[in-house]
Amino acid sequence: MISLNYDWEFVTEWTEDFALGKGVGEPVRLPHTVREVPQHYADDMSYQLVSGYRRKLRLPASAAGRRVFVRFDGAAHIATVYLNGRELTTHSCGYTAFSVELTGCLAPETVAWLSVRLDSTENPAVPPFGFVIDYLTYGGLYRPCWLEIRPETFIEDIYVTTPTTRTASVILTLSGPDGDKTDPLPATRIRLIDQDGQCVLEESGQQLNYTLTLPNARPWTLETPALYTLEAAVLDDTGTPTETRAAVFGFRTAEFRADGFYLNGQKTFLRGLNRHQCYPYIGYAAPDSLQREDARILKEELGLTAVRTSHYPQSQAFIDACDRLGLLVFTEIPGWQHIGGSEWKAQAVENVREMVRQYRNHPSVVLWGVRINESQDDDEFYRETNAVAHALDKSRPTSGVRYIEKSSLLEDVYAFNDFSYAGQGAGVRPKEKITPDTTKPFLVSEHNGHMFPTKPYDTWERRQAHALRHARVQNDAAGSGVHAGCFGWCMFDYPTHKDFGSGDRVCYHGVMDAFRNPKLAAWLYASQQDVTPVLEIGSSMDIGDYPGGNIGDVWVFTNADEVRLYKNGNYVTTLKGSPYTALPHGPLLMDDVIGELLVSQEGYPEKKAELARQCLLAARKYGFDHLPPSDKLRMGLLMTRYEMTEEEARRLYTKYVSNWGGASTAWRFDAVKDGEVVLSRTVCPTTRLHLEASVSSDTLVEGDTYDMALVRLRILDENGQPAPFAQLPLHFHVSGAARLVGPTVVTAEGGMTGCMLRTAGEAGEAVLTVIGDRMVPLELRFMVRLAKEPYTDEEETDDGTQERVDEIQPDAAGSAGSDGESV
Ligand code: GAL
Repeated sequence: MISLNYDWEFVTEWTEDFALGKGVGEPVRLPHTVREVPQHYADDMSYQLVSGYRRKLRLPASAAGRRVFVRFDGAAHIATVYLNGRELTTHSCGYTAFSVELTGCLAPETVAWLSVRLDSTENPAVPPFGFVIDYLTYGGLYRPCWLEIRPETFIEDIYVTTPTTRTASVILTLSGPDGDKTDPLPATRIRLIDQDGQCVLEESGQQLNYTLTLPNARPWTLETPALYTLEAAVLDDTGTPTETRAAVFGFRTAEFRADGFYLNGQKTFLRGLNRHQCYPYIGYAAPDSLQREDARILKEELGLTAVRTSHYPQSQAFIDACDRLGLLVFTEIPGWQHIGGSEWKAQAVENVREMVRQYRNHPSVVLWGVRINESQDDDEFYRETNAVAHALDKSRPTSGVRYIEKSSLLEDVYAFNDFSYAGQGAGVRPKEKITPDTTKPFLVSEHNGHMFPTKPYDTWERRQAHALRHARVQNDAAGSGVHAGCFGWCMFDYPTHKDFGSGDRVCYHGVMDAFRNPKLAAWLYASQQDVTPVLEIGSSMDIGDYPGGNIGDVWVFTNADEVRLYKNGNYVTTLKGSPYTALPHGPLLMDDVIGELLVSQEGYPEKKAELARQCLLAARKYGFDHLPPSDKLRMGLLMTRYEMTEEEARRLYTKYVSNWGGASTAWRFDAVKDGEVVLSRTVCPTTRLHLEASVSSDTLVEGDTYDMALVRLRILDENGQPAPFAQLPLHFHVSGAARLVGPTVVTAEGGMTGCMLRTAGEAGEAVLTVIGDRMVPLELRFMVRLAKEPYTDEEETDDGTQERVDEIQPDAAGSAGSDGESV
């Protein structure tokens, strides 16, 4: 495959003349967004354009006598492809790839204009459009584009399934000049390559179907996601390959049963989040490295076992990373609540076909969403989407996401958006109340989201409540014994349409902000994994941020065995045993701020200390004037038996509960695992701030296209604790071999923000400087490498200028290259 990601020209208004090489466009590279958008108050109309892309295309001499295709991995939303002004094809799904065959349209070593008319309006003729949508549907040739040169008979598709963890069944589809190549059937060969690049199995024959057994195959698991490469070849009479193609897969079985999901026969709870594919400013147009970074964040930082690609198929680079990392995927066709007319539905059925064909080798993909997200029943339509998915892939079940109960269940798995939890009671509704058929598997495809929008700069109380809501729903779904999984809404905050969001057209539904910085709820997820120690406190312990100064219950998000609490260096108590028992590591409650302090600091005898502790904690909860009767009795006992005066009680309260007046209080939390302190946090009033950066990569590689780095920035206090009310301006300056994407000044929101860098075709160092008031500036260094000379079809003429292909006359359109002449 040859990259066609460079040397495009772009115009915001498509014209036929543009397709003929007239005029000039803005030079662009792919992935490209038709319009960058601001993070807040974005206007969807700004990217609703009918724009034009074009580039010169020169086929290499090696294309002679071969078949030639251009593949677009993502063109949002309706793309019509032209060669020298002649219309070749139209593709009407912004979320799946498509190829256009140029064989015979263009002779090798001649040059033609390849152009695309791209409709990124919300054209109601195609999904997901036709009514409101809660996310932006950015336009652009936003995924890579490739030139493929194949022999006359080539391998169009390899489809691998693994009926067991040791066997694979392989189906090859060959394409000949007249369609499927079966007569006469050429000889084929397949090779199985393991993780070390060793060929572990080889078979050949005059056949398209192979069944392989690898007795010592390494299974694909979430912990060790072993991948194999199936290399297929078409052989000529001498046994020499005339064509090869590879597919990556994993030996695994994935099964949904009435009581849950089983990976390789082992019950595995799908603890997931929903992911949109957008990024700040650039919308959908992110290179592979950023797609991979999201998968890494989901798996390694958020400790998830699964992701739902709401509400459309996402980049192959993202799914490849899920394969490599061991993250299960529920993917689905584009759509949001609305079902259109018959042509619209036909396109949706086509989208199922493309989704299944394009993603069915991925071991991470375990479920097809074949309904329009949250749409009404439509049996005829959904019978067809189910049939298409089942016909193309018998190895995976279908599902479809609903918000209605007992809807017509044509799929194998009932997926339900359970937004019933509003802070109290059960986290999820019982399966039998929702699904019409309890013998079929069941899962929660969304929860929380709009039920509790939470900004990074909201109060501690709200952000903690947000995290606890996720904890409750995840816990109750995991504990029901019959939920196969539970996907929270959603990974990060996203820009949306006017009908949704917080007025600035942002849905603050993420457990992370738009730059993938963690809110408290992110730590609830992060603390479920066992690889990296996590310890985050649900409060800064500042009474001023709480109604009436009452901090109330504080929750600690950790994967440690227990957390030891110290106040100003004195041991208070140990937190252990979560009420969220169905989670691997439920949050721990810190409701005792006194613990042993009355003994160690006041020298009280144990019994008196215990009684006083109980009274003070009750006063903390209810106030002295509103103590419940049992606590009033205790207070009486304290005063009579131990001669505690009211003044003394209030002194203790000030010192041990409200912590007023004296020297500032430092709370230390020590996370203990296997008897060792693995992480420690100090929470203390603060005035000194600093910046923390985490970069997706400090090595950027420009190869098949440009590369980008995502820089996540947080403002922390001197103890490394988040400073959620540091809404401070940050200035960015980039020098060297990369460019800044987005504005040069941003305001940290909730003490968090970010920026992105993009390579610019130069090798060398790039330096990003981040400057914030009263903080030490950060200087981040990146190395930019050029992996290879990009393929260029621009030919230098003798005088060193580049040949221009312009002024193609309309009547010449289509004849280009057919006579072998250069245009
Ligand atoms: C769901 C919908 C999602 C998102 C979410 C917000 O109904 O499927 O796309 O809008 O609500 O909570």
